[in-house]
Amino acid sequence: MTATILTRVLAAGPEATEAAARTLRAGGLVAFPTETVYGLGADATDATAIARLYAAKGRPRFNPLIAHVADADAARRLGRFDDAAEKLAAAFWPGPLTLVVDKADGCPVADLATAGLDTLALRVPAHPVATAMLAACGRPVVAPSANRSGHVSPTTAAHVVADLSGRIDLVIDGGATPVGVESTIVACLGGPPRLLRPGGVPREALEQVLGAPLAAGPAPAGDSAPGGGSEPAPLAPGMLASHYAPRARMRLGATRVAPGEALLAFGARLPDGVGDAVAVLNLSERGDLAEAATRLFAHLRALDASGAAVIAVAPIPRHGLGAAIADRLVRAAAPRG
Ligand code: TXA
Ligand code: MG
Repeated sequence: MTATILTRVLAAGPEATEAAARTLRAGGLVAFPTETVYGLGADATDATAIARLYAAKGRPRFNPLIAHVADADAARRLGRFDDAAEKLAAAFWPGPLTLVVDKADGCPVADLATAGLDTLALRVPAHPVATAMLAACGRPVVAPSANRSGHVSPTTAAHVVADLSGRIDLVIDGGATPVGVESTIVACLGGPPRLLRPGGVPREALEQVLGAPLAAGPAPAGDSAPGGGSEPAPLAPGMLASHYAPRARMRLGATRVAPGEALLAFGARLPDGVGDAVAVLNLSERGDLAEAATRLFAHLRALDASGAAVIAVAPIPRHGLGAAIADRLVRAAAPRG
């Protein structure tokens, strides 16, 4: 158990930016808005601060973190960009894309942040509050989503406070995050780029810029795993199955609602039995996947709080941002580890 500390909440603005930069440079923990979800930031070069961050989240240590920087030039000082990485950075930064690249020589990011990997996940967020804070801090900032490990990601400052009050130094309140699901992660390690996590930039948009289909999942291990076991490849170590677990059980692709269930709806047409639902929230009445992404985590939190034992989830298309939404829902539905 971490000792309780005083968590300050400041409205976004120059004073909050200064306080955040000062706190980060002193080894403290700052939650801040990005365009995807709120991140919990620590100085990426300070192993003690990162240890504190893992403790505050209750996160397993083997899950490596994304280093956030203010612009692409700062990112290029930390990692080695191949052609695909350059193309993707030019097209989508700042924005909801994380690139996993080889670490640059002399990269100052602490080994604890990368879980000892030779690769580094880099992101240039597109949110004025994040950009101002990163520029003022002048150091790379590692930031996982600002929730307790295993909880749903936060899209408002209130979500952050609910999970982390008493465990972190500062929360900058910049309102609801505009994208709502985490960044897309692509590994660019010299070979064909690979999609490690669907997210805020749809696969279709990435493939259009690359002019080729993306490989999916972790790279095949160079030396095949002995015994045919299903050991996860070390390239994508953070993809824990039940990462986004609410308390309620999740039932996906529900075309009717059973009495006592809560319903997460999508689109104008509601499933049969909706009248018996304990609570109903719609991701997007007009069937808009971007709107659905912005509401996903807040609706999951709210339906979980309704007390229903089961959250039934209506079918949701898988194209565009639907792939990221489906990924988060499948994890939320996975058996608890
Ligand atoms: O939108 C986002 O990406 C948010 C905001 C705060 O920026 N951050 C976020 O961080 O989602 P987190 O820690 O919840 O997820 C980071 C993911 C994990 O799945 C982790 O395994 C993966 O990135 N990752 C980090 N470094 C990696 C590396 N070197 N190789 C492969 N995967 C890596
Ligand atoms: Mg997370």
